[in-house]
This record gives sequence, C-alpha cells and structure tokens, in this order.
Amino acid sequence: MSADRILGIETSCDETAAAVVSRGSNVMSSVVSSQIELHARYGGVVPEVASRAHVELLMPVVAQAVVEAGIGDREIEAVAATYGPGLVGALLVGVSAAKAMSMVWDVPFVAVNHLEAHLYASFLEEPDLEMPLVILLVSGGHTSLIVMEDHLRYRVLGSTVDDAAGEAFDKVARHLGLGYPGGPLIDRLSVDGDPTAIHFPRAMARDGWDFSFSGVKTAVVNHVRKNPDTPIPDIAASFQEAVVDVLIDKARRAAREIGAKGLCLGGGVAANSRLREKLLDVCVEDGIRAFLPSRAMCTDNAAMVAAAAWWRLEADGPSSLSVGADPSLRLPVL
Ligand code: KG4
Ligand code: ZN
Repeated sequence: MSADRILGIETSCDETAAAVVSRGSNVMSSVVSSQIELHARYGGVVPEVASRAHVELLMPVVAQAVVEAGIGDREIEAVAATYGPGLVGALLVGVSAAKAMSMVWDVPFVAVNHLEAHLYASFLEEPDLEMPLVILLVSGGHTSLIVMEDHLRYRVLGSTVDDAAGEAFDKVARHLGLGYPGGPLIDRLSVDGDPTAIHFPRAMARDGWDFSFSGVKTAVVNHVRKNPDTPIPDIAASFQEAVVDVLIDKARRAAREIGAKGLCLGGGVAANSRLREKLLDVCVEDGIRAFLPSRAMCTDNAAMVAAAAWWRLEADGPSSLSVGADPSLRLPVL
C-alpha cells in the first residue's frame, strides 16, 4: 500500500514534533517544539512533565505542520506516530492522537519504531543511498552499530553494554555543572579545549562490536576530583575525543569488514561536530561514501517518522489500531 503525503508525529521523549513528508523524502514541513526549558531545572527529562506538555503542544504543532506544508487536512493520506521505544506516557499521547486523526480522516495509521525513524533520517536528504550501509545510531537512549542490507532489513552488530553515548555526554555535563542536555554544551565548549590534554579510557575499543561508556564517565568524575583546576574546555574536549574515537573506530572497522558502500550517522549525538568531522575524514581515507544527515534531522523530529512510515506502509500496509505504546521496543532485525 502507498500514500503520498504522510503526517508524522513524534512524542517519544521531550520533543513534540509533527511533519508532512511526501513519498518518504520530500519534507513539506517539519515542526519541532522542544521542552528543554521545562526539564532543564530538573537536570533531565521528567516523564510526567513531558506527557503533560505533549498533550498541550501536540495539536498546535500538528496544525502548524499542516499549514506550513501548504495543504488541507484532507490531503493527508496517512498518519504515522512513534510507538516506541521511549517514555510510555509520552508515546501514548502521540499514538492516541494519530489513531484519532486516522479515524476522523479515514486514512491509514502507521506505528513507527523510533530507532528505524532515526535510520531513515538519512534517506530524507539522500533517498538513493546505496546499500549495504553501516549506520552508527547514537542517541540519548541508544548506541548501536547497524548494518542496513536493504530497506527495512537490518543487522545489529553491537550495542552499548551500559550507558548510551548521549547519556554519557549528559551525565558528564551534569557533573561539570554545565546543564542539560549536555551533548550540545560539551560540543560547543570543546572548540576551546585541547582534546589531548587528558587521556581518558577508550573502553572495548579493540574487542568486538559492543560499546561501553560508563567507564569514561567515571574517569572524568575521578579526574575532576583529583585535579579540580583543570580547565573545563580541556576536560570536555578530551572526554568528547575518547567517545568519538571509539565510535569511529568501530564503525570504520565494520564498514571495511562488510564491504559497506557507505557510512552514516543517526540519532542526537550525530549532531556532534567532532564525530561528523572524524567520520568524513575516515571515509575519505577509506574511499567510501559518508553521509551525515543535517543536524535538525539527527535530533528527534517527525520528518524521520513520516519517512520510515512511507517505507513501512509500502512493505507491511497499515498498522492495526490496537497497537499500543511499547517503551522498550527494539529494532526489527533479520
Ligand atoms: O535522538 P535524540 O534527540 O533523543 C533520543 O532519542 O535519545 O538524542 C538526544 C541526545 C542527548 O543525549 C543529547 O545530549 C545528544 O543527543 N546530543 C549531542 C549533541 N546534540 C545532541 N551529543 C553530542 N554532541 C551534540 N552536538
Ligand atoms: Zn531519538
């Protein structure tokens, strides 16, 4: 089954987003309303606060996305929403609203996996990416090294055994008293720091495909305790370098091993300047294609949800209205 214009909805964490995307790649509108300021004073996302904010923000965000797309409600041909993984209350807001709209407009409902949506962010800007691809999916809740063999066909080579990369950025930033979310703050501070100032551990760098980031976080905490006068930009840059080194090293090895046509990034941490720079460098050296989605498409948004929905609808048809939120949903693998 196919639908040209899909309305995507994303409410899995602290962004309330809606977008209209045509044929899985033409972004007609993409509206993201961030709740960062609401959660910043608590130093992280408070689930109950997030759900309530989604309830208030979702319909105005959807209305704006439809208006910005320059179409009427009746020109929407399917409604898609993220149904997991994420915060259950937050997910339920998007899923319930999407089902209601699909019933009112009599169009299909498509339940979308948030991780698959992050993978499809790349195809929004580059619909003809050649496969197999190695995709490094790095967000606040997930860190995985994925081989995409073909559309909707994945293998997970490895994942984090403890903290996700974004979680490590957020925890280190909190310890350094920088605020929330930590990734963008550490990224910005690192520009003025020396990445070689402190050698933080590169855990599991050489063994297997899994990652571990809780050790580097503890190493930062211990370093600050013993050396309280180290300039914060040097700590930020050295920490960032340690995380990026491990991510790039494994992604590069994976690409070589499977003979990938390209290497892609997905998820919020994919907005990191140093990660983007290093990925480009290694791809040039290895003669493979590098693909970096724009920063706005790396962090949570609904255009990626509508893109993934387009492929899912073609392959599997509409989702049942009995599908509910699934907070611990995994990527469907081969
Ligand atoms: O994908 P995302 O928007 O939400 C989840 O699905 O988790 O990712 C959010 C994560 C946060 O941990 C945030 O600190 C991190 O992405 N992040 C960054 C950067 N921008 C966002 N980490 C490092 N550098 C950045 N520039
Ligand atoms: Zn995400």
